[in-house]
Amino acid sequence: VKLVTTHQLLAMKQRGEKIAMLTAYDFSMATLLDGAGIDVLLVGDSASNVMAGHETTLPITLDQMIYHASSVVRAVKRAFVVVDMPFGSYQGNSSEALRSAIRIMKESGGHGVKLEGGAEIRESITRILTAGIPVMGHLGLTPQSIYKFGTYTVRAKEESEAQKLLEDSQLLQELGCFALVLEKIPSALAKQVAETLTIPVIGIGAGPDVDGQVLVVHDMLGITKEFKPRFLRRYAEIGDVMHDAVQRYIQDVKTQDFPSSEEAY
Ligand code: KIV
Ligand code: NA
Repeated sequence: VKLVTTHQLLAMKQRGEKIAMLTAYDFSMATLLDGAGIDVLLVGDSASNVMAGHETTLPITLDQMIYHASSVVRAVKRAFVVVDMPFGSYQGNSSEALRSAIRIMKESGGHGVKLEGGAEIRESITRILTAGIPVMGHLGLTPQSIYKFGTYTVRAKEESEAQKLLEDSQLLQELGCFALVLEKIPSALAKQVAETLTIPVIGIGAGPDVDGQVLVVHDMLGITKEFKPRFLRRYAEIGDVMHDAVQRYIQDVKTQDFPSSEEAY
């Protein structure tokens, strides 16, 4: 199988083939997703919520992200693996950002990194790109700045915020980012960005008129049951399947139905 490259993702945009991206944080899940043919796997800092049970993405550390990413990379035969740079690992200054990105690339084997923000982090992005590390941008709802905004509601509905997002998206392309994630913004704005930029624009809650879609895999599989934003489509109710399986297991253990003689040595 051939590995997906940034070059191929660009070609997909050019020929109008949508890019399918999902999060992954561990080996078993990544094996399944890669085997199903996913184009891009994102080792998202949403691991902070989904894997560790934190309320925000802020607490997850660089070491923890590297642990998740290396587990995903060991599973992958085809997908392009993007690793989120966690809060605090790149905002300080550009040499810290480069050091963090190099650690991710060396210690996890990931294929690229993702950073939240536009003009504010331009020097960090430039420095990382200079080292030959592919960078994916992330604009719109940026969960690492949750305490600046206070809510996880839709972003860039106001003209001034929309204008800044348009400028930032242009800047990220000019700096050399290979792709851009737009999270939870109006469809019309996302469409405008995707039409203006030549690099692929991947949406989550950004409507249909972008170059690809990303979801948190535990959300789309119905494992995380409480999280039900409008943009989420549930493709399975794996949480219910697991709940039922575990209850049947408990029952079988209690009743001594399990293990049977064939299941023993
Ligand atoms: O961490 C994450 O899961 C993300 C996606 C929602 C884009 O950044
Ligand atoms: Na993220």
